[in-house]
Amino acid sequence: MRGIVLGDGPMGLAVASALRERDEEVVVLGRPATTHPPGTFAGADVVFEFSRGTAVLPNVAAGLAGGCRSFVMGTTAWGVNQAEIGALLTQHGASAVVAANFSPGVNMLGRLVTSASRMFGALPAYDPYLVEWHRRGKADRPSGTALELGRRILDGHPAKRRLADGPRDGPPDPDELEVASVRAGASPGMHLVGFDAPGETVELRLTARDRSAYAMGAVAAADWLLRSPRRPGLHPFDCVVDDLIGIEIPGGAR
Ligand SMILES: NC(=O)c1ccc[n+]([C@@H]2O[C@H](COP(=O)([O-])OP(=O)(O)OC[C@H]3O[C@@H](n4cnc5c(N)ncnc54)[C@H](OP(=O)(O)O)[C@@H]3O)[C@@H](O)[C@H]2O)c1
Repeated sequence: MRGIVLGDGPMGLAVASALRERDEEVVVLGRPATTHPPGTFAGADVVFEFSRGTAVLPNVAAGLAGGCRSFVMGTTAWGVNQAEIGALLTQHGASAVVAANFSPGVNMLGRLVTSASRMFGALPAYDPYLVEWHRRGKADRPSGTALELGRRILDGHPAKRRLADGPRDGPPDPDELEVASVRAGASPGMHLVGFDAPGETVELRLTARDRSAYAMGAVAAADWLLRSPRRPGLHPFDCVVDDLIGIEIPGGAR
C-alpha cells in the first residue's frame, strides 16, 4: 500500500507509524501554502485524512484531482460538508470510510452497551450509569464518545430518557442517566458503563493508552477499501469492523 497521510499532528503521525510498522510506503503532509498539488497524489492507493475540519473538503478535492479513489477520513468537526463530500466522491467513483473514532474497541464497546442496555433495561433493579475520565486539558465534557454511549443507553433502556446535566440540589431524577466526567492528570481516555443493583455491579470499561488503536482501525479501513471494489461514497467504520470480526452484529454505530 502507498499511503498519503494528510495531517502532521499526533494522529497523522500515529497512522504513519502504524503503516511503517507494516513496511508500507507512506508520506505525511502538513498544511500546504494553498492546496495540495494534484501531483502529490500520483501513485497513492489511499489518502488518510487526519487534519482539520475546514481542510477536509479541499484535501479530498485535491486527492480526487490527483487520481486517488480510496480515502480514510478521521478528521472530526467537518459534518457540514459531509453531503457535499459524499457527492463529490460518488461523482468520481471514489469510496471513503469515515469515522470520528477509528478504535475497533470503541466500536465494539458501543455495540456491547446497546445490547447490555436492552438486557438490563428489562431488570429494574439494575441502574445504569456512565463515567468518563480524560486528561485535565481536554476541553469538552462529556466526551464525544461518552455522548454516543449515553445515546445508546437512552435508546436501549426504557427507564432512562435524558442525560443528567448541570449542578442540582435534591434527589436525582430517575428518568435521568447519571453521567460523570473527570478531567484530571494525563489519561488519554477511559469510558465506563455500569449497571448497579443492590447485590452486584456489572461494568463495561474501555481504557485507552495511546492513539495506536485509532491508527490500527484506520489502517484496517484502508485494507477494507483496497480488498475489493466498494460502492462509491461514504461508508461507516461498522462495515470494516463487521468484516474484521467476520460477522454482522446488530446495533452498529450510526
Ligand atoms: N477518527 C479517529 O479515530 C480520530 C482519533 C483522534 C483524533 N481524530 C481527529 O483527527 C484530526 C487530527 O488529530 P490531531 O490530534 O493530529 O490534530 P492536530 O494536532 O490539530 O493536527 C492536525 C494537523 O493537520 C495540519 N493541517 C492543517 N491543514 C492541513 C491540510 N490542508 N493538509 C494537511 N494537514 C493540515 C495542522 O496544521 P496547522 O496547525 O498549521 O493547522 C496540524 O498540524 C482531528 O480532527 C482529531 O479530532 C480522529
